[in-house]
Amino acid sequence: MELSDVIPWGRTADEYERMFLLSRTDDLPTHRFLGVADGPASFNAEWTAAGGRVTSVDPLYALPGAGIVARYAAVRGQVAAALTANPGAYAWGPAPARFPNVPALLRRRDTAMAAFAADFDAGRAAGRYVTGGLPALPLPADAADVALVSHYLFLYSRQVDGPAHVAAVEELLRVAPEVRIFPLLTLAGEVSPHVDTVVGHARRRGWGVSVKQVDYEVQRDGNQMMVISRRGGG
Ligand SMILES: C[S@@+](CC[C@H](N)C(=O)[O-])C[C@H]1O[C@@H](n2cnc3c(N)ncnc32)[C@H](O)[C@@H]1O
Repeated sequence: MELSDVIPWGRTADEYERMFLLSRTDDLPTHRFLGVADGPASFNAEWTAAGGRVTSVDPLYALPGAGIVARYAAVRGQVAAALTANPGAYAWGPAPARFPNVPALLRRRDTAMAAFAADFDAGRAAGRYVTGGLPALPLPADAADVALVSHYLFLYSRQVDGPAHVAAVEELLRVAPEVRIFPLLTLAGEVSPHVDTVVGHARRRGWGVSVKQVDYEVQRDGNQMMVISRRGGG
């Protein structure tokens, strides 16, 4: 798949905390997090500033910071137009679990982009932003305690097929004992056909797999997160 097929659209740490049921009190001080397909999200910047340990991996990081900002600026208008043209596809509502309207959502994306851009050069030098991507991550086994994948797997189900999802989960569980994926919906707002493929594979491998309801919904009905653990259970 071409990198240009995937939009550099970043979420904030508050959104990651909601999508992935993360607690600043319990999880931030205790776990090493790996954000795969993190793009211009500000989770790494914000949690690092708060004392957390986060590494982000994305092919986008091959670009200089200014190039990532430019790519975001280039797609922002198109995405805003698509959001405005399809209001029924989104769960508009009161913050913080939802967005009240398109301008509020765009302001949040701008906030994430600005925090990411301010952190990117220093974070790359420190090894917190690593150029790479699925299906082969440039990291050793058990480099993290929890891998997070926001808005890439399942969402891009047309571009990333079922076998690629299985390969991605195998690779994610090589570098961390637990992976969390949000959302389970495709870009068209339907439950991804690869959800059953991944659940079936996880069960055959003896991994724990569960789907959790979360208090965050932007795509309508997009409020579920999958947890897969090689420790079993679930
Ligand atoms: C929609 S953005 C999501 C950004 C961030 N996770 C968030 O939710 O705010 C999708 C990201 O997937 C990245 N991507 C594309 N191909 C990838 C691959 N093979 N492996 C990992 N990430 C990839 C893109 O560069 C882009 O930054």
